Amino acid sequence: MTVLHLDSSITGDNSVSRVLSRSIVEQIATPGTEVVRRDLVADPVPHLTLDAFADTSVLDEFMAADTVVIGAPMYNFSVPTQLKAWIDRILVAGKTFRYTATGPEGLAGPKRVIVALARGGFYEAGSPSSSLEHLETYLRGIFNFIGIEPEFVAADGIAIGPEQREASLNAALDESLKLAA
Ligand SMILES: Cc1cc2nc3c(=O)[nH]c(=O)nc-3n(C[C@H](O)[C@H](O)[C@H](O)COP(=O)(O)O)c2cc1C
Repeated sequence: MTVLHLDSSITGDNSVSRVLSRSIVEQIATPGTEVVRRDLVADPVPHLTLDAFADTSVLDEFMAADTVVIGAPMYNFSVPTQLKAWIDRILVAGKTFRYTATGPEGLAGPKRVIVALARGGFYEAGSPSSSLEHLETYLRGIFNFIGIEPEFVAADGIAIGPEQREASLNAALDESLKLAA
């Protein structure tokens, strides 16, 4: 099995999503698992240009993975720009989706995608902030579009204070223990 492990937090050792994504990879890896590491902050994927379509290395790496684990912090209610640049390389017409007479069809599955979310606030459906949730909803939408049902483990309320941060991270780490392959 090949696991592609991505991180996109800019906060280094202080990052919640990095701790969580690492825990998820540890849970799902079995002896013989090859873990391919891509740190989108240390080694950013350049913004999309027309010329960049010629370079399929990011897409090839994604397609070769059986499982993809993504550390995804909420920045300004959505994905970090580093993660968006990666997404721009994997949503490719004719490769990971195609348009048909009956609508779009995802071509990237079967593949397991597990996303480690970290958000400063709370965004449950029906809460005052829910209309600003463009991280989980966006990631679910784009992976569904290419034929994958992603799983999410979330640590929320991280910016509220140290106690909430610790409680949310511990609860999310407990959740990650249930993800063994
Ligand atoms: C640049 C920046 C923008 C942020 N924007 C938001 C936001 O829009 N909504 C929110 O709830 N939290 C926001 N936060 C808080 C982060 O989502 C929170 O600290 C989370 O833990 C980030 O993940 P990380 O710890 O892996 O970096 C922001 C943090 C940073 C550094």
